[in-house]
Amino acid sequence: MVWRVWMGAAVFLVVPSTGTATSHPHPAPALDRGQAIYLQHCKACHGEAGDGKTFAANVLNPPPRDFTSAASQKKLTRERMIRSATEGRPGTAMMPWKSVLTPADIRAVVHYIRQELMHVRP
Ligand code: HEC
Repeated sequence: MVWRVWMGAAVFLVVPSTGTATSHPHPAPALDRGQAIYLQHCKACHGEAGDGKTFAANVLNPPPRDFTSAASQKKLTRERMIRSATEGRPGTAMMPWKSVLTPADIRAVVHYIRQELMHVRP
């Protein structure tokens, strides 16, 4: 009985999201998830649009990264972003997220930032 309930939950969890299928020519399955994580955990410092213009930015030194700047687009590779989000940036307010988010969640939120806020292609 318990086993069946568990199996039901597992099946529910792996059903892919199709919410963004119509808005992108090459939909990424993790985009919805990435956005949800961003809004919950990253928005306070980086801003809903990713430009770092937040109340928190007033008191942070260095300030949160502006993902929309040309410098960020050039400098921030996917690998670097995943590493920074996982391990944090020592000496800054950018904390490590590995105890909060799974590696898949971190990949999803980085994918969201790159695609929707930085507008860089994979
Ligand atoms: C408490 C404020 C705060 C929150 C919340 C926050 N960040 Fe940051 N983030 C920062 C700051 C400050 C920096 C700039 C660090 C630096 O200059 O090295 C930064 C930088 C970054 C960078 C660039 C790091 C690099 O390699 O230069 C990435 C990527 C990033 N954040 C992702 C995220 C993600 C993803 C989340 C949510 C899961 C998040 N941040 C939540 C404050 C925050």
